[in-house]
Amino acid sequence: MFDFRSDTVTKPTQAMRAFMMEAEVGDDVYEDDPTLKRLEKHVAHLTGFEDALFVLSGTMGNQLAIMCHTQKGDGVLMHANAHVNRYEVGAISLLSSVYPQLVYNDSGYLSKDDLDKYRGMDNIHFPRISCVVVENALGDGRVVSIKDMDDIIHQAHSDGYKVHMDGARLFNAHITLNAPLKDVISQADSLMFCLSKGLGAPIGSMLCGSKRLIAQARRYRKMLGGGIRQGGILAAAGLYALEHHVERLIEDHHRANLIAQHLVQSGYEVLLTHRDINMVYFKLQPHHNEKQWLHDARDFDVLLSPSTQGWLRLVTHLDINDEAIMRFIQFINAQKQLD
Ligand SMILES: Cc1ncc(COP(=O)(O)O)c(C=O)c1O
Repeated sequence: MFDFRSDTVTKPTQAMRAFMMEAEVGDDVYEDDPTLKRLEKHVAHLTGFEDALFVLSGTMGNQLAIMCHTQKGDGVLMHANAHVNRYEVGAISLLSSVYPQLVYNDSGYLSKDDLDKYRGMDNIHFPRISCVVVENALGDGRVVSIKDMDDIIHQAHSDGYKVHMDGARLFNAHITLNAPLKDVISQADSLMFCLSKGLGAPIGSMLCGSKRLIAQARRYRKMLGGGIRQGGILAAAGLYALEHHVERLIEDHHRANLIAQHLVQSGYEVLLTHRDINMVYFKLQPHHNEKQWLHDARDFDVLLSPSTQGWLRLVTHLDINDEAIMRFIQFINAQKQLD
Protein backbone atom coordinates (compact mmCIF):
# COMPACT_ATOMS: atom_id res chain seq x y z
CA MET A 1 0.00 0.00 0.00
CA PHE A 2 1.13 3.55 -0.77
CA ASP A 3 -0.13 5.47 2.21
CA PHE A 4 -1.03 9.06 1.28
CA ARG A 5 -3.01 9.75 4.47
CA SER A 6 -0.32 11.72 6.30
CA ASP A 7 3.41 12.29 6.59
CA THR A 8 3.21 10.77 10.06
CA VAL A 9 2.96 7.25 8.59
CA THR A 10 6.59 6.95 7.47
CA LYS A 11 8.56 3.93 8.66
CA PRO A 12 12.20 4.34 9.73
CA THR A 13 14.57 3.48 6.90
CA GLN A 14 17.12 0.68 7.28
CA ALA A 15 19.89 3.28 7.59
CA MET A 16 18.00 5.13 10.32
CA ARG A 17 17.38 1.86 12.17
CA ALA A 18 21.08 0.97 11.95
CA PHE A 19 22.00 4.38 13.35
CA MET A 20 19.50 3.92 16.20
CA MET A 21 20.97 0.51 17.00
CA GLU A 22 24.39 2.03 17.50
CA ALA A 23 23.21 4.87 19.76
CA GLU A 24 25.04 5.39 23.00
CA VAL A 25 22.46 5.71 25.78
CA GLY A 26 22.13 6.77 29.42
CA ASP A 27 19.29 7.78 31.72
CA ASP A 28 17.91 11.10 30.59
CA VAL A 29 16.01 11.75 33.81
CA TYR A 30 19.51 11.94 35.33
CA GLU A 31 20.38 14.00 32.23
CA ASP A 32 23.15 11.65 31.23
CA ASP A 33 22.01 10.24 27.90
CA PRO A 34 24.78 11.39 25.55
CA THR A 35 22.81 10.96 22.33
CA LEU A 36 19.84 12.94 23.63
CA LYS A 37 22.22 15.63 24.83
CA ARG A 38 23.82 15.70 21.38
CA LEU A 39 20.45 16.07 19.67
CA GLU A 40 19.33 18.84 22.01
CA LYS A 41 22.59 20.74 21.60
CA HIS A 42 22.51 20.30 17.84
CA VAL A 43 18.91 21.55 17.61
CA ALA A 44 19.59 24.58 19.83
CA HIS A 45 22.48 25.50 17.55
CA LEU A 46 20.46 24.90 14.37
CA THR A 47 17.51 27.01 15.48
CA GLY A 48 19.40 29.74 17.32
CA PHE A 49 17.75 29.13 20.69
CA GLU A 50 19.68 28.82 23.95
CA ASP A 51 18.42 25.32 24.62
CA ALA A 52 16.20 22.51 23.33
CA LEU A 53 14.31 19.56 24.75
CA PHE A 54 13.29 16.28 23.15
CA VAL A 55 9.57 15.65 23.71
CA LEU A 56 7.37 12.73 22.80
CA SER A 57 5.05 14.51 20.39
CA GLY A 58 4.21 17.84 18.83
CA THR A 59 1.24 18.12 21.13
CA MET A 60 3.48 17.64 24.17
CA GLY A 61 5.87 20.32 22.91
CA ASN A 62 3.08 22.85 22.27
CA GLN A 63 1.47 22.16 25.63
CA LEU A 64 4.73 22.47 27.56
CA ALA A 65 5.43 25.80 25.88
CA ILE A 66 2.03 27.14 26.87
CA MET A 67 2.46 25.84 30.42
CA CYS A 68 5.74 27.78 30.57
CA HIS A 69 4.49 31.03 29.01
CA THR A 70 1.25 31.43 30.98
CA GLN A 71 -0.30 31.74 34.42
CA LYS A 72 -3.61 30.20 35.41
CA GLY A 73 -6.49 32.35 34.08
CA ASP A 74 -4.50 33.96 31.24
CA GLY A 75 -5.70 34.13 27.65
CA VAL A 76 -3.84 32.45 24.78
CA LEU A 77 -4.44 34.22 21.49
CA MET A 78 -4.51 32.10 18.35
CA HIS A 79 -6.48 31.55 15.19
CA ALA A 80 -9.41 29.19 15.66
CA ASN A 81 -7.81 26.85 13.10
CA ALA A 82 -4.62 26.44 15.15
CA HIS A 83 -3.70 22.85 15.90
CA VAL A 84 -3.40 23.82 19.58
CA ASN A 85 -7.05 24.83 19.53
CA ARG A 86 -8.59 22.20 17.28
CA TYR A 87 -6.67 19.00 17.70
CA GLU A 88 -5.02 18.91 21.12
CA VAL A 89 -8.03 17.66 23.06
CA GLY A 90 -8.58 21.08 24.61
CA ALA A 91 -5.46 20.42 26.68
CA ILE A 92 -4.58 24.06 27.31
CA SER A 93 -7.69 24.41 29.47
CA LEU A 94 -6.75 21.43 31.58
CA LEU A 95 -2.97 21.62 31.71
CA SER A 96 -2.48 25.40 31.85
CA SER A 97 -5.94 26.52 33.04
CA VAL A 98 -5.92 29.18 30.34
CA TYR A 99 -8.60 30.62 28.09
CA PRO A 100 -8.30 30.13 24.32
CA GLN A 101 -8.84 33.63 22.92
CA LEU A 102 -9.77 32.67 19.36
CA VAL A 103 -9.46 34.77 16.24
CA TYR A 104 -11.68 34.09 13.23
CA ASN A 105 -10.78 35.79 9.96
CA ASP A 106 -10.98 35.07 6.25
CA SER A 107 -7.31 34.26 5.79
CA GLY A 108 -7.48 31.32 8.20
CA TYR A 109 -4.39 32.33 10.17
CA LEU A 110 -3.34 35.01 12.60
CA SER A 111 -2.00 38.28 11.21
CA LYS A 112 -0.64 41.47 12.73
CA ASP A 113 -3.97 43.28 12.23
CA ASP A 114 -5.78 40.70 14.35
CA LEU A 115 -3.84 41.89 17.37
CA ASP A 116 -5.29 45.43 17.13
CA LYS A 117 -8.61 44.31 18.54
CA TYR A 118 -7.07 42.97 21.74
CA ARG A 119 -4.87 45.92 22.62
CA GLY A 120 -7.51 47.78 24.62
CA MET A 121 -8.74 44.67 26.32
CA ASP A 122 -6.32 44.74 29.21
CA ASN A 123 -8.98 45.44 31.83
CA ILE A 124 -10.84 43.67 34.60
CA HIS A 125 -13.42 42.09 32.28
CA PHE A 126 -11.08 40.01 30.18
CA PRO A 127 -8.42 37.39 30.65
CA ARG A 128 -4.91 38.82 30.48
CA ILE A 129 -3.41 37.65 27.20
CA SER A 130 0.11 36.42 27.84
CA CYS A 131 0.86 34.22 24.85
CA VAL A 132 0.23 34.14 21.13
CA VAL A 133 0.45 30.90 19.14
CA VAL A 134 1.48 31.05 15.48
CA GLU A 135 1.95 28.19 13.04
CA ASN A 136 4.32 27.63 10.10
CA ALA A 137 3.75 25.70 7.94
CA LEU A 138 0.01 25.89 8.57
CA GLY A 139 -1.75 22.60 9.09
CA ASP A 140 -3.75 23.24 5.92
CA GLY A 141 -0.74 23.10 3.61
CA ARG A 142 0.04 26.81 3.35
CA VAL A 143 3.21 28.63 4.34
CA VAL A 144 3.18 32.07 5.96
CA SER A 145 5.65 34.53 4.43
CA ILE A 146 8.63 35.67 6.45
CA LYS A 147 7.39 39.26 6.37
CA ASP A 148 3.93 38.37 7.69
CA MET A 149 5.47 36.26 10.43
CA ASP A 150 7.99 38.96 11.39
CA ASP A 151 5.19 41.52 11.51
CA ILE A 152 2.96 39.51 13.80
CA ILE A 153 5.74 38.47 16.14
CA HIS A 154 7.04 42.02 16.36
CA GLN A 155 3.55 43.34 17.11
CA ALA A 156 2.91 40.61 19.69
CA HIS A 157 6.12 41.52 21.48
CA SER A 158 5.23 45.24 21.42
CA ASP A 159 1.91 44.31 22.99
CA GLY A 160 3.73 42.41 25.74
CA TYR A 161 2.92 38.84 24.66
CA LYS A 162 5.22 35.84 24.39
CA VAL A 163 5.07 34.03 21.06
CA HIS A 164 5.09 30.28 20.64
CA MET A 165 5.60 28.92 17.14
CA ASP A 166 4.01 25.57 16.30
CA GLY A 167 6.41 24.48 13.59
CA ALA A 168 5.28 20.88 13.29
CA ARG A 169 6.29 21.19 9.62
CA LEU A 170 8.87 23.94 10.08
CA PHE A 171 11.31 22.31 7.68
CA ASN A 172 8.69 22.13 4.92
CA ALA A 173 8.18 25.89 5.39
CA HIS A 174 11.96 26.39 5.36
CA ILE A 175 12.27 24.53 2.04
CA THR A 176 9.33 26.36 0.46
CA LEU A 177 10.50 29.79 1.61
CA ASN A 178 14.04 28.95 0.54
CA ALA A 179 15.28 31.04 3.46
CA PRO A 180 17.59 30.39 6.42
CA LEU A 181 15.87 28.47 9.20
CA LYS A 182 16.47 31.28 11.67
CA ASP A 183 14.61 33.72 9.41
CA VAL A 184 11.63 31.35 9.30
CA ILE A 185 11.61 31.13 13.10
CA SER A 186 11.88 34.92 13.32
CA GLN A 187 11.88 36.16 16.94
CA ALA A 188 9.55 33.52 18.39
CA ASP A 189 10.13 32.95 22.11
CA SER A 190 9.65 29.22 21.76
CA LEU A 191 9.39 26.77 18.93
CA MET A 192 8.15 23.23 18.54
CA PHE A 193 8.99 21.19 15.47
CA CYS A 194 8.30 17.53 14.72
CA LEU A 195 10.88 14.91 13.87
CA SER A 196 8.15 12.37 13.19
CA LYS A 197 6.41 13.99 10.22
CA GLY A 198 8.18 14.83 6.96
CA LEU A 199 11.56 14.18 8.57
CA GLY A 200 10.68 10.51 8.95
CA ALA A 201 11.68 9.71 12.56
CA PRO A 202 9.43 7.21 14.34
CA ILE A 203 8.72 9.42 17.33
CA GLY A 204 9.51 12.79 18.82
CA SER A 205 9.45 16.53 18.52
CA MET A 206 11.75 19.27 19.76
CA LEU A 207 10.86 22.19 21.98
CA CYS A 208 13.28 25.11 21.75
CA GLY A 209 13.56 28.19 23.94
CA SER A 210 15.63 29.99 26.53
CA LYS A 211 17.59 27.97 29.09
CA ARG A 212 15.06 29.00 31.71
CA LEU A 213 12.06 27.92 29.63
CA ILE A 214 13.62 24.57 28.78
CA ALA A 215 14.53 23.88 32.43
CA GLN A 216 10.92 24.52 33.39
CA ALA A 217 9.60 22.49 30.46
CA ARG A 218 11.85 19.59 31.52
CA ARG A 219 10.15 19.56 34.93
CA TYR A 220 6.67 19.77 33.38
CA ARG A 221 7.54 17.02 30.91
CA LYS A 222 8.47 14.77 33.85
CA MET A 223 5.20 15.74 35.56
CA LEU A 224 3.25 14.59 32.50
CA GLY A 225 5.00 11.23 32.53
CA GLY A 226 7.42 12.20 29.80
CA GLY A 227 10.63 11.54 31.72
CA ILE A 228 12.65 9.63 29.17
CA ARG A 229 15.19 7.04 30.27
CA GLN A 230 17.39 5.50 27.51
CA GLY A 231 16.01 7.99 24.98
CA GLY A 232 19.22 8.04 22.97
CA ILE A 233 17.76 5.39 20.68
CA LEU A 234 14.98 7.81 19.74
CA ALA A 235 17.31 10.80 19.65
CA ALA A 236 19.53 8.96 17.17
CA ALA A 237 16.58 8.78 14.77
CA GLY A 238 16.15 12.53 15.17
CA LEU A 239 19.82 13.23 14.52
CA TYR A 240 19.74 10.98 11.48
CA ALA A 241 16.56 12.68 10.19
CA LEU A 242 18.02 16.17 10.57
CA GLU A 243 21.14 15.17 8.73
CA HIS A 244 19.60 13.17 5.89
CA HIS A 245 15.93 14.06 5.48
CA VAL A 246 15.72 17.84 5.34
CA GLU A 247 16.96 18.66 1.84
CA ARG A 248 14.95 15.80 0.35
CA LEU A 249 11.67 17.44 1.44
CA ILE A 250 11.83 19.26 -1.87
CA GLU A 251 11.15 15.89 -3.53
CA ASP A 252 7.93 15.53 -1.50
CA HIS A 253 6.87 19.02 -2.55
CA HIS A 254 7.69 18.23 -6.17
CA ARG A 255 5.73 14.96 -6.11
CA ALA A 256 2.74 16.74 -4.55
CA ASN A 257 2.95 19.20 -7.47
CA LEU A 258 2.90 16.38 -10.00
CA ILE A 259 -0.19 14.92 -8.38
CA ALA A 260 -1.94 18.30 -8.18
CA GLN A 261 -1.22 18.95 -11.87
CA HIS A 262 -2.55 15.54 -12.89
CA LEU A 263 -5.70 16.01 -10.83
CA VAL A 264 -6.36 19.41 -12.42
CA GLN A 265 -5.76 17.98 -15.90
CA SER A 266 -8.18 15.18 -15.09
CA GLY A 267 -10.98 17.57 -14.12
CA TYR A 268 -10.71 17.54 -10.32
CA GLU A 269 -10.91 20.74 -8.28
CA VAL A 270 -7.63 21.30 -6.46
CA LEU A 271 -7.25 23.91 -3.73
CA LEU A 272 -4.37 25.69 -5.46
CA THR A 273 -4.09 28.38 -2.78
CA HIS A 274 -3.03 25.63 -0.35
CA ARG A 275 -0.30 24.15 -2.52
CA ASP A 276 2.83 25.24 -0.66
CA ILE A 277 4.21 22.04 0.84
CA ASN A 278 3.60 18.30 0.64
CA MET A 279 -0.20 18.41 0.80
CA VAL A 280 -2.81 18.41 -1.93
CA TYR A 281 -6.42 19.23 -1.12
CA PHE A 282 -8.90 18.24 -3.80
CA LYS A 283 -12.57 17.49 -4.40
CA LEU A 284 -14.09 14.51 -6.11
CA GLN A 285 -16.29 15.17 -9.14
CA PRO A 286 -20.07 15.40 -8.62
CA HIS A 287 -20.72 11.96 -10.14
CA HIS A 288 -18.20 10.22 -7.83
CA ASN A 289 -19.24 8.26 -4.81
CA GLU A 290 -16.54 8.89 -2.22
CA LYS A 291 -16.76 5.55 -0.48
CA GLN A 292 -16.51 3.69 -3.79
CA TRP A 293 -13.74 5.98 -5.06
CA LEU A 294 -11.62 5.39 -1.95
CA HIS A 295 -12.30 1.67 -2.22
CA ASP A 296 -11.26 1.63 -5.89
CA ALA A 297 -8.10 3.53 -4.97
CA ARG A 298 -7.13 0.70 -2.64
CA ASP A 299 -7.19 -1.68 -5.63
CA PHE A 300 -4.34 0.45 -6.99
CA ASP A 301 -2.53 0.27 -3.62
CA VAL A 302 -3.45 3.88 -2.93
CA LEU A 303 -4.60 4.66 0.60
CA LEU A 304 -6.35 7.95 1.40
CA SER A 305 -8.44 9.28 4.29
CA PRO A 306 -12.10 10.27 3.86
CA SER A 307 -12.83 13.91 3.08
CA THR A 308 -13.42 16.72 5.55
CA GLN A 309 -16.05 19.24 4.45
CA GLY A 310 -15.80 17.84 0.94
CA TRP A 311 -12.02 18.13 0.64
CA LEU A 312 -9.75 15.09 0.43
CA ARG A 313 -6.19 15.61 1.68
CA LEU A 314 -3.30 13.77 0.07
CA VAL A 315 0.17 13.95 1.65
CA THR A 316 3.53 12.99 0.13
CA HIS A 317 6.47 11.90 2.28
CA LEU A 318 9.55 9.74 2.61
CA ASP A 319 7.68 6.52 1.75
CA ILE A 320 5.97 7.99 -1.32
CA ASN A 321 8.34 7.37 -4.20
CA ASP A 322 7.94 7.74 -7.97
CA GLU A 323 6.25 4.34 -8.16
CA ALA A 324 3.60 5.56 -5.69
CA ILE A 325 2.97 8.62 -7.87
CA MET A 326 2.66 6.38 -10.93
CA ARG A 327 0.12 4.19 -9.13
CA PHE A 328 -1.91 7.22 -8.14
CA ILE A 329 -1.86 8.54 -11.71
CA GLN A 330 -2.84 5.11 -13.06
CA PHE A 331 -5.76 5.06 -10.64
CA ILE A 332 -6.94 8.54 -11.72
CA ASN A 333 -6.62 7.51 -15.37
CA ALA A 334 -8.57 4.33 -14.75
CA GLN A 335 -11.32 6.38 -13.07
CA LYS A 336 -11.42 8.62 -16.15
CA GLN A 337 -12.03 5.57 -18.35
CA LEU A 338 -15.05 4.70 -16.20
CA ASP A 339 -16.60 8.18 -16.65
C1 LIG B 1 0.40 21.95 12.88
C2 LIG B 1 0.52 20.80 13.85
N1 LIG B 1 0.91 21.04 15.10
C3 LIG B 1 1.04 20.07 16.02
C4 LIG B 1 0.81 18.75 15.69
C5 LIG B 1 0.92 17.70 16.78
O1 LIG B 1 1.86 16.73 16.56
P1 LIG B 1 1.72 15.28 17.25
O2 LIG B 1 0.77 14.51 16.40
O3 LIG B 1 3.11 14.75 17.22
O4 LIG B 1 1.20 15.48 18.63
C6 LIG B 1 0.42 18.44 14.39
C7 LIG B 1 0.14 17.05 14.01
O5 LIG B 1 -0.33 16.73 12.96
C8 LIG B 1 0.26 19.48 13.44
O6 LIG B 1 -0.13 19.24 12.19
